[in-house]
Amino acid sequence: MQTDATEKAAELPECERATELPECERATELPGCGRATERPWWRDAVVYQVYIRSFADANGDGTGDLAGVRAHLSYLAALGVDALWFNPWYPSPLADAGYDVVDYRSIDPAFGTLGEAEQLIAEARALGIRTIVDIVPNHVSSLHPWFKEALAAPAASVARQRFWFRPGKGADGELPPNEWQSIFGGSAWTRVADGEWYLHLFAPEQPDLNWERPEVWDEHEDILRFWFDRGVAGVRIDSAALLLKDPELPEDVPDAAPGEHPFTDRDQLHDVYRRWRALADSYVEPRVLVGEVWLPDAERLARYLRPDELHTVFNFDFLACPWEPGPMRASIKSALASHARVDAPATWVLSNHDVTRSVTRYGRADTGFAFETKREGTPTDLLRGQRRARAAALLAMALPGSMYIYQGEELGLPEAEDIPPEKRQDPMWLRSGGVDPGRDGCRVALPWSGTKPPYGFSPDPNVRLWLDHQPDNWGPLSVEAQTEDPSSMLSLYRAGLRIRRQAPWGAGSQLQWLDYGEEVIAFARGESFFCIVNFGTQPLELPAGADVLMASTELVGDKLSQDTTVWLVQTTNRAAFDPEQPRAHHSS
Ligand code: GLC
Repeated sequence: MQTDATEKAAELPECERATELPECERATELPGCGRATERPWWRDAVVYQVYIRSFADANGDGTGDLAGVRAHLSYLAALGVDALWFNPWYPSPLADAGYDVVDYRSIDPAFGTLGEAEQLIAEARALGIRTIVDIVPNHVSSLHPWFKEALAAPAASVARQRFWFRPGKGADGELPPNEWQSIFGGSAWTRVADGEWYLHLFAPEQPDLNWERPEVWDEHEDILRFWFDRGVAGVRIDSAALLLKDPELPEDVPDAAPGEHPFTDRDQLHDVYRRWRALADSYVEPRVLVGEVWLPDAERLARYLRPDELHTVFNFDFLACPWEPGPMRASIKSALASHARVDAPATWVLSNHDVTRSVTRYGRADTGFAFETKREGTPTDLLRGQRRARAAALLAMALPGSMYIYQGEELGLPEAEDIPPEKRQDPMWLRSGGVDPGRDGCRVALPWSGTKPPYGFSPDPNVRLWLDHQPDNWGPLSVEAQTEDPSSMLSLYRAGLRIRRQAPWGAGSQLQWLDYGEEVIAFARGESFFCIVNFGTQPLELPAGADVLMASTELVGDKLSQDTTVWLVQTTNRAAFDPEQPRAHHSS
């Protein structure tokens, strides 16, 4: 694996091989690195999401760390990813798994040091892999110096104005200032000792910042600069649509008109991202802004992607879409159309650290995702789920735009559903009184090798993991077990990403839909590449005159069976190839 990674680094232009930022920043001086004329990397990048706590533990304390990531960079290079997005790695009391940040300019000691982070950024870059860090601008930890200062300060002080402190309602102010609900359940307000209440759209340990204050803007721009100057290629912006609030704090009415919700998608928010974009663009290699924007309205979402705002946003519509041809086709079409209008690339996301893993989700009767309906114990056919997850992976890889892979998806890990209550960590589970199973099930430590926990995750076989649970039957899912197995999920991802990297469709070519009937999603890209997904029970005959590049499940007698994706490339015999040829067969 080391050899692969080294080879890959050797193929890169000199500027890409820079081990230190300054050299890379001088990229335009190096021959062959005239970036202005190149297609920006992020438009079709494959970004791998590293949930550090569960990736690999090098120091044996049961928590994944930076040294663990560094030790496995060759694995990531061999997988064929272009960038790593790290979930928050800052000091945090972990009330919400690191999304409660105490200090945005350093590394949690459990993960390592700032120096190690800088080394990691440089080492990854030497392998051609860029780094994206998570920025959490909506809220801080309740242990952040600003919040501690606010708690110690009187009502209406500047220190309190950096947050949303308000007197309560009721005779003695014993009721919260309004009825807003926390996204994790319960009231979005918590009362402090002197009787005032403060707003937290998530857990009480995550007080919301007040973006009406100029120092909140300045502070975040400084944090961006801090990481950009250390060579990170971009930031993933947490809860990016929530920062701005209506200062009147009116009640949250259902069906608020676009831009009029009291705390979601407010128009002034775009000014924040315009400032951030100007900052990102001021670097020789412009930095990239990736927004976590959960909005059902594709047009409102696209507003964040205007040329002077964010570069990309996560495509949650695709992630949450049921594995059904109609909704899938509609979701892809809508994403492509709305993104094209602002000349932004769509992203293809199947999973992340907040949602049910795709193998489990796709093995259920309801294959879509919604936080409201997520319940443990839902009957699941994992074999079916795995087959569909394989098909979905090849579909996502073939679509124009960039792709996100959440760690463990390349191993086909299912959701771990039988975590005993006393071991659970997620505030979503705790705050819902256990009704919502929470997100621990997709955050279990990766299996690297061996047949029993901790599966090589930690050097200490008797270690107690931070989330003290790994299923007993994950041996066959380990990296070691899958590496040499050509039929494994890992082999599928590696092969798919290798072909994707070669862009058999040609640079940036757009998608053209083909009509194979209702049960099939089929499209061409470029002159000779075709992707066909069969959702129907009827096996689908492949068009003549095309070679199979790869298929998510073996073809059965040259036919594409249910829940299978195939990539085809037209052979030299153009006359024989009619991409829509099976249509007659199908509709007969
Ligand atoms: C985002 C994160 C999630 C976190 C929340 C609050 O949605 O992805 O994990 O709990 O923001 O920061």
